[in-house]
Amino acid sequence: MATKREPIHGQWSGRLAFILAATGSAVGLGNIWKFPYIAGENGGGAFVLIYLLCIAVIGIPIMMAEVMLGRRGRRSPINTMRHLAGEENASPHWQWLGWAGVLAGFLILSYYSVIAGWALAYVFRAGSGLFTGLTADGVQSIFSNLVSEPERLLAWHTLFMVMTMIVVARGVRSGLEKAVRLLMPALFVLLVILVGYAWNSGSFEQGVAFLFQPDFSKITADGVLIAMGHAFFTLSLGMGAIMVYGSYLPDRISIAKTSIAVSLMDTLVALMAGMAIFPIVFANGLEPGAGPGLIFQTLPIAFGHMPYGAFFGMLFFVLLVFAAWSSAISLIEPAVAWLVENRSMTRVNASVLAGIATWSFGLLTVFSFNIWSGFKPLADKTLFDLLDYLTANIMLPLGGLLIALFAAWKMSRESSVDELAMGERFWYPLWRILVRYITPIGVTIVFLHAIGII
Ligand code: PHE
Repeated sequence: MATKREPIHGQWSGRLAFILAATGSAVGLGNIWKFPYIAGENGGGAFVLIYLLCIAVIGIPIMMAEVMLGRRGRRSPINTMRHLAGEENASPHWQWLGWAGVLAGFLILSYYSVIAGWALAYVFRAGSGLFTGLTADGVQSIFSNLVSEPERLLAWHTLFMVMTMIVVARGVRSGLEKAVRLLMPALFVLLVILVGYAWNSGSFEQGVAFLFQPDFSKITADGVLIAMGHAFFTLSLGMGAIMVYGSYLPDRISIAKTSIAVSLMDTLVALMAGMAIFPIVFANGLEPGAGPGLIFQTLPIAFGHMPYGAFFGMLFFVLLVFAAWSSAISLIEPAVAWLVENRSMTRVNASVLAGIATWSFGLLTVFSFNIWSGFKPLADKTLFDLLDYLTANIMLPLGGLLIALFAAWKMSRESSVDELAMGERFWYPLWRILVRYITPIGVTIVFLHAIGII
């Protein structure tokens, strides 16, 4: 059996620090920007129900598996997988799982940063009182003006990437813990205020019914795949982000309790965002399936009509930027940790290199919304749509599937009992059944269903 390793990039100060960092990674654009718009595009209730089911039976057990592998390996995901494979007498090819994760994180961050740039731009638009008294049409045209100009998008994307790389260069621990501790609760309070506004919008019931009344005739096989993919995306699973954070987790902290806490908070934030947005959509005769611009075309209406709207609007987008920031850091951390370990780079150089590469790739997304918006090489999807689809719906579930297979089939029972420390009665066997059978079978069925085989 393995002796305990010390992490080489530092360690969280304790349980709360890890929960905060993992929540910082999980809660982000996925909850507030992506969840409402894909729920809207896929007909609401049935989609939301499948997403919740995936969080419970696939997401939480895989999060536990991923944190466990990280803490056992105590290195960047690539090296963690290589070492654990050696330790458990599995094939060295398992390290490819780490590589695939680094690639997925890089691809996701390239578009994530562009969207976070929209949120940055909206900090200033909201703060200047631009939304005051605006109707749905006015709000819509502000959004189209922003995305139609590549130079503007590029500037905001650049600013966001620079912000991200500065934090990554300094090391994930300094600053991040403190920022998340303060800003996550603040974001939550603002969401409560927005739900309060939506409550009075006149269409609260309709919005909530759209979100929670399942109508299975509205969901397609592709919709099921998108719901499952989003469970991975929103919990930051399947690409090593949670693994790398797990590698900084001190021993003796319960992996199960922390994983459940993080997943619950993440889900709550997404549902609150949905409850804030859909009543506004219906009250203003807007389209729930409006696409990636949905929150930028709805929330400003609320801010434009509530007392102190300019202040609350600005604060909301500031907090959204912070939420995106703490997620972005975790998207690139596996790559940076690897460059530091294997290429003996300093953190600063590794961050600059990873940042420049990601920034450049982000140009594809920047242009997808304007000069290349008509370029749809596959399945009527722009380059941005394709990147998002490939990463969230294919790469992350595949990565998660392999994590589950490694944790449950390759790793000895002894090692996982030791690492999870849940005793051997009820909870441990339940987890093991979920990751051994239920998750792999579930993910495979959804894949096969989406490509039309079953
Ligand atoms: N979970 C983040 C969000 O919801 C996105 C993310 C995905 C972060 C994968 C890290 C890894 O915004």
